[in-house]
Order: sequence, then C-alpha cells, then structure tokens
Amino acid sequence: MGQPQQSEGAESETPAPAGTGAGKPPLRVGMVGYAFMGAAHSQGWRTVGRVFDLPLRPVMAAVCGRDAAAVRAAADRHGWAAAETDWRALITRDDIDLVDICTPGDSHAEIALAALAAGKHVLCEKPLANSVEEAEAMAAAAEAAHARGQRAMVGFNYRRVPATALARRMVAEGRIGTLRHLRVSYLQDWLVDPSFPLTWRLRKELAGSGSLGDLGAHIVDLAQYLAGERLAGVSALTETFVRQRPLPHGPTSGLSAASADGTGEVTVDDAALFTGRFASGALASFEATRYATGRKNALRIELNGERGSLAFDLERLNELSYHDATEPDAHAGFRRILVTEPDHPYLDAWWPPGHGLGYEHTFVHQARDLVHAIAEGTTPDPSFTDGLQVQRVLAAVEESAEKNSVYTPIAV
Ligand SMILES: NC(=O)c1ccc[n+]([C@@H]2O[C@H](COP(=O)([O-])OP(=O)(O)OC[C@H]3O[C@@H](n4cnc5c(N)ncnc54)[C@H](O)[C@@H]3O)[C@@H](O)[C@H]2O)c1
Repeated sequence: MGQPQQSEGAESETPAPAGTGAGKPPLRVGMVGYAFMGAAHSQGWRTVGRVFDLPLRPVMAAVCGRDAAAVRAAADRHGWAAAETDWRALITRDDIDLVDICTPGDSHAEIALAALAAGKHVLCEKPLANSVEEAEAMAAAAEAAHARGQRAMVGFNYRRVPATALARRMVAEGRIGTLRHLRVSYLQDWLVDPSFPLTWRLRKELAGSGSLGDLGAHIVDLAQYLAGERLAGVSALTETFVRQRPLPHGPTSGLSAASADGTGEVTVDDAALFTGRFASGALASFEATRYATGRKNALRIELNGERGSLAFDLERLNELSYHDATEPDAHAGFRRILVTEPDHPYLDAWWPPGHGLGYEHTFVHQARDLVHAIAEGTTPDPSFTDGLQVQRVLAAVEESAEKNSVYTPIAV
C-alpha cells in the first residue's frame, strides 16, 4: 500500500515487525487510544506473530492519541513505530492497513466509518457504538466494505478465553443437549465509593450507557455466542445508585482519576438486571453492576441443557465446569476441566498442559483470529452486524427499564 507518508504530529520510521513471519505479507496496524484497551491490544499485536504461525505479519505501524508527548511515550512503551496526534491523519496514512479503535464509545462510529471509507480493515472495541443508529451505519458500511475485501470485527474478547471457546465447542457438539437455562452475571465493585470521580464511563454522551454497555454488552455477546442463538426479547430493571459525583481533575482514564472541586450528574445506569428469552424458548438472566462489593471482574456464566450443564468464572479462567447428565446419578456431578490441553482452543501454540493463561491472552487470540479472517477472506467473528445486534439488545433493555420492565422484543 505505498510508502509511509509524513503527516503532522507523526514520526515517520520504518515500522518494526511485531513478530517473526519474515517473507509473509505485512498487515500494518494503526491504533487509536493507548490507555487500558490500548495497552491490552498492543500486547496482542506485539505477541501474536511470535506465538502463532500467521498468514500475515502484523506490524505495529502507528499509534494515535491527542497529546504529542504522551502518545510518543506510549508508542515507545508499547512498541509502536510512529505516533500521530489526530486520528484523521492516522486513517489516511498509506502505510496503515488496519485501524484498531481503543477509544470510548462516542468516537467509535466516526472513526470506524472514516477508516472503512479510507479502505482500511477495522477492529473496534465494544460496545460497537453508543446507539443503535450509529451501529446500523457501521454495520452497513462494514458490509459494503466487505465486498471490497475489507474486514471489520468487534472486540468481544471474552469469546477468546480458551475455556469459553471450549464451552462453545461442547454446546455445538451437543454435550448439554437442548438449552433450557442460561444465567450470567458480570460483577465489579470500583464504583462503590461515592467519591470516585465522574469519568467518561459515567457520562451518557461519552459512554452511551453505564454498566449495561460496559459489562452488559460483554455478557449479551458471550451468552448468545455460547447458546449459538439470539435473544428474542427482554424484561429489565436499571438503577443509578449514586447520582452526583466529584468532577475529575488532571489525567483520567475510564477507571481512574483524581477529584476536583464541584460535582456533576451521573447520567448512566450503575446496574442493569434483565431476563431474556432465546428464540428457541430457553430462558436467560443477566446482571451487570459495578457495585458488587468484593467482586473485581467476576464474569460468571452457566448453561443448563437437558443432557448436561457448563459453568465458567472469569476469575478462574483456566477452568470449565461440566456436568454430564447422561452419567448414572451414583457418580455424576460437576467436574473441573483444566483447559490447558493442546487440543483445547488456542492452546496448541502456548505452554505445556497445566501452565495456564490469563486475561491478556484474549487479546492475542483476538488478533490471531482477525489476521486469519483478513488473509482468508472470511467474515470475522463477531462482525459489525453481530455488534449491531448486541446494541439492539442493549436498547431493548433500556426501553424495557423505562416502561416498568415490560417485555420488549429485540428489533430484527
Ligand atoms: N474488551 C474489554 O475487555 C474492554 C475493557 C475495557 C474497555 N473496553 C472498551 O474499550 C474502549 C476504551 O476503553 P478504555 O478502558 O481503554 O478507556 P481509557 O479511558 O483507558 O482509554 C481511552 C483512550 O482513548 C483516548 N481517546 C479518547 N478520545 C480520543 C480521540 N478523539 N482521539 C484519540 N484518542 C482518544 C484517550 O486519550 C485514551 O488513550 C471502550 O469502548 C470500552 O468500552 C473494552
């Protein structure tokens, strides 16, 4: 795609390869945002070509932020060859093939639409957008771009934990039979302190919604992925427990900041609870909160089918629990599968059995799967169309909560 071009705020350098793969065509990545998800995605791009045998060679070409000194420091720390201070300059660089969006939701649609129009592949963090309207435009643009050979994927990384991918494989193999129940909760506690400042995650115009879009989006995607089917409708309750918070002062990220004088209004939900019905008739329950004291990142999901059950807890992410209901009652029961075997998803490239992976590896696996989709011309999973459908579920939850939990069908 041509030579690296100089643009304002950029340092033009020969991009350093992110891995081995000499002789393979490069996939030159430009990433927007370099805080929490930026660091996690950097880890993914830096590592993926050194662990997996890929058809393309990811190159960490440029990272973009708004503060020149800070983005340069982030580029050095995380291994990006160049730094940009305007995402518009990043997406028009002809030495970038893929734009990786790690900013808050208010900029996802604008950056993704522009990147697709500029001929780039796109990886966009979740939730896909801040509204159904934005997500519809993004899904339509991604479909049009697909026909031109571009690929677009949403960053629902919890599909890429080996244990959840194994659970999906077992459901598809029929090991739990017809699904009857799915219950899932995503519990954190970083908002319990009412003096925690009003960061972007607490402002609707930046985040779209609160625990619902942040944590709820993950569990809706994971539930539908594991069930292998979509929700048909929901009944919901949402609540904002602390309605005023101190204004943030100085550098902030979505999860940390110092407080300044004065307070501002929290304009998103603090917690969302909803029940749902799958198209097959299976019933599901969902809980997303940042007020579950003592729970740090507890994503727990259980599926009960007529032939058995599966259960997973992100705080024990190398394990999957399985109950085979076809075994005689005398010795049936939940058993722990240690998901570290080479024939478990993603694990043939990692360590010997029993040596375990962590949170960061989900981003390596995400990069791996996207590289394959780009090289092989397949539709990445989850696509922008999948991200749009999750957005419709979130919108139905909000609509139901506004109407005293009335059952609200998911728009198709
Ligand atoms: N997949 C996951 O597990 C997961 C976890 C956390 C966050 N997220 C998602 O990732 C996204 C980012 O969240 P985060 O926690 O990394 O936030 P963060 O506050 O830690 O980082 C946001 C970054 O975006 C930058 N930014 C904001 N607006 C920008 C703009 N216009 N141009 C350039 N840079 C800009 C900020 O400077 C910062 O570097 C959100 O969509 C969030 O929902 C996903």
